[in-house]
Amino acid sequence: MTQDIDRARDAALEAIRTAGSVADLDQVVADHLGKRGTLATLKKGLGSIGDPDERKQAGASMHAARAAVEEAADERRASLGDAEIDARIADERLDLTEHRHAGSRGHLHIVTQAWERLEDVFLGLGFSVAEGPEVETDWHNFEALNMGEGHPARGEFDTLFVDHVPPGGSAGSTLLRTHTSPVQIRTMLTQEPPIYVVAPGRVFRRDTPDATHMPVFHQIEGLVVDRGISMTDLAGTIEAFTKAFFGSGFTSRLRPSYFPFTEPSAEFDIQRPDGSWLELGGCGMVHPEVIRAGGLDPEEWSGFAFGFGIDRMAVMRHGVADIRDMYVNDIRFIEQF
Ligand code: PHE
Repeated sequence: MTQDIDRARDAALEAIRTAGSVADLDQVVADHLGKRGTLATLKKGLGSIGDPDERKQAGASMHAARAAVEEAADERRASLGDAEIDARIADERLDLTEHRHAGSRGHLHIVTQAWERLEDVFLGLGFSVAEGPEVETDWHNFEALNMGEGHPARGEFDTLFVDHVPPGGSAGSTLLRTHTSPVQIRTMLTQEPPIYVVAPGRVFRRDTPDATHMPVFHQIEGLVVDRGISMTDLAGTIEAFTKAFFGSGFTSRLRPSYFPFTEPSAEFDIQRPDGSWLELGGCGMVHPEVIRAGGLDPEEWSGFAFGFGIDRMAVMRHGVADIRDMYVNDIRFIEQF
């Protein structure tokens, strides 16, 4: 009897060792340990062993055999389970490097390209890059820029307000910045002059998208604060930028204009080699009130600022007919640049 038990145990252990999957193993266990399994059948015969000692010994063998088979099955189940998980992971793996343009790594969006080229040109002119938040306070976006409550120029910025009341603040005083000019204030408040910075970034206005407008677009701000800065420095910087960015065949001009945060204010235009003019942005001498809001003494420091749209630069450079095309991420459009 004990020999039969050992034989059944060895057969079970062998079957367990060679089971190829968890499902196979379950079958092996049922065949050997289950109700109609080899060991169970032998177990039923234990009662008919007449000699008590022999019966006791056979019972102990049976117990040990079942324990050995169960333990081997548990071990095998664990390792088969791991192997199956590994296999499934390998099987379900997605090859994310697979692309129909094998070998091409794609490229930056044309607005990002314009943004980076602008930064490069201004870095070359000795400027550094500053930034500010896209969610702004009314104070930084308007008040400190000489547009107090009720200033008519506020109406020109179709402002998107944020549903957030800051501690101690009032409803409607948090907004999505309508221009990059609040970075002028933040820079003056955190950096000692002399200041020579550009601040590219996203700006927001409540506009319906059309061929030339998007509610989210990009501007680059320039700010210089130093001793004895004059309008000539502004005109010279715009001209140097124009030549560096567009090429030596291009020139620039300033036209009188109005912004609450600069005095005097101007628009600047670029002349193409074919003689045609293109409006680019606004600029001027930083208003003394703005210098003061930046925590500086306007008797000691003066400066100029300028701002213009980055999206338009990309549009001009690549002859994009509809500004919205730049933002639908249609690969047929994107891969042209
Ligand atoms: N912030 C102005 C605008 O968005 C542009 C500007 C910047 C004008 C700096 C003057 C000086 O229209």
